[in-house]
Parts: sequence; structure tokens; C-alpha cells
Amino acid sequence: MNDKKLTIAIDGFSSCGKSTVAKELARKLGYVYVDTGAMYRAVTLYCMRNSLISDDGTVNTDNLKKVIGDINITFTYNKSTGANTTWLNGEQVEDEIRRIEVSNKVSYVSRIDFVRTQMVKLQQDMGKQGGIVMDGRDIGTVVFPNADLKIFMTASPEVRAQRRFDELTAKGEKVTMEEVLENVNQRDYIDQHRDVSPLRQADDAHVVDNSHMTRDEQFAVILQLVENAKKG
Ligand code: DC
Repeated sequence: MNDKKLTIAIDGFSSCGKSTVAKELARKLGYVYVDTGAMYRAVTLYCMRNSLISDDGTVNTDNLKKVIGDINITFTYNKSTGANTTWLNGEQVEDEIRRIEVSNKVSYVSRIDFVRTQMVKLQQDMGKQGGIVMDGRDIGTVVFPNADLKIFMTASPEVRAQRRFDELTAKGEKVTMEEVLENVNQRDYIDQHRDVSPLRQADDAHVVDNSHMTRDEQFAVILQLVENAKKG
């Protein structure tokens, strides 16, 4: 491989293993990894803690607008454990932002235009130098439309719900398969139908459907795409 520092955009539906692949790829290439979903989750947690979102998902946008510039989101990476940690205004929130209460609300926050404008700005700053793997929903379409490599990952809703269910129950969360599948379907719908930056595949993205692939198989496919992109 030559040393060209690529900008790699990985988009796709929720729970299709984007972040696992993106993290693994960044480690292999020695690139920075940015989980943009974690940023929208952190803003959602901020809203929940500050009474800016009601139980039915209604956001107090006037008040959120006043404070959005003060919401500071950063990441740290531990080289020896490979763990990525999300920080919200200096507090470690990595576990809390993965809870189902946050998952159930995040789409209501991520569809707000000024929230997206602010997050996209932060993401573009993080990726200025290249050598980055960023995963999300709009990375190849909005954040880095000129990315060197765009991957659109997908898997069936049932396969994704099963994976998320296994993840949550392993952490001791009490959830049912029905609840998780409903959350996956609901988020797919909102993500694809929102007015601002809806989830869609970039025209020049490579589609990877991993419903029936092992992690190793999928990684081999993606590494080949990286090799090809490096050749230009
Ligand atoms: O990838 P995730 O499930 O952690 O993302 C959480 C939510 O954030 C998801 O419902 C969609 C939204 N999101 C987004 O709108 N744009 C992104 N770039 C990343 C995530």
C-alpha cells in the first residue's frame, strides 16, 4: 500500500456493524476514527438531562439553539485497549449514550437542521488532514462529498435487530427482541424520511450487504476497496 492518507466515509443503516468495521479499519491503517452517531447521541443525552426533550420526542428547539454552540463533544482513543470514548462537556458518556432511552430519542434530535449544521462543521474540522475513517448517515453525501472511498453498509432489519439485542442484553439491559426490532424499523424510517440530510446512498458509494457475511469476510471486502482507492 502507498502512503496516501485517504478520507473514508462509511454510511448505512443503524446496527449494521458500521462502527465495528470503521474502528477496525482505522486501527489497521493508523487513521483517526470518528463515530458521528455518538455525536448525535451525546447531543440527545444533553437534551434529556436539561429537559430540552419531552417523552414523546418534542424538542425545545428555541432553547437548544441557544446552547448548541456550548455543547462540546470530543473523543479519546486508547491505543492499548483499542477503546474509543465519547466525552460530553468533559464528562465520559460512552456507556450512557448507548442506552435504549437515548436510542429511542436520538432521531428526533438528529433531524433538526441547526444540530446537523453544527455537527457537520465539527466533523469537517476533524477530517481536514485526511487519514480518517468516519461513520454515519451523511458522510459520503454531505460531510465529505469528495471522500476518496465511500462505503454504504446494509443488512436486513431482522439481522440488525438480533445483533443489537445481543449487544444490549450482554450489557444487562432488559429489552425484548420486539422492542429492539421496532426501534430499528422506526429509526430506519425517520433516518430515511427526514427533511434534512436523509440517509441515502451516495451515487459513487460501494454497497456492502453483510447480512450473510462473517466479520472477516466483510473486512476482506473492505480492505480490497481501500487498496483500489489507494491506487486512485
Ligand atoms: O449510528 P448510531 O445508531 O449510533 O446513530 C445514532 C442516530 O444518529 C441514528 O438514529 C441516526 C443519527 N445519525 C445521523 O443522523 N447522522 C449521522 N451522521 C450519524 C448518526
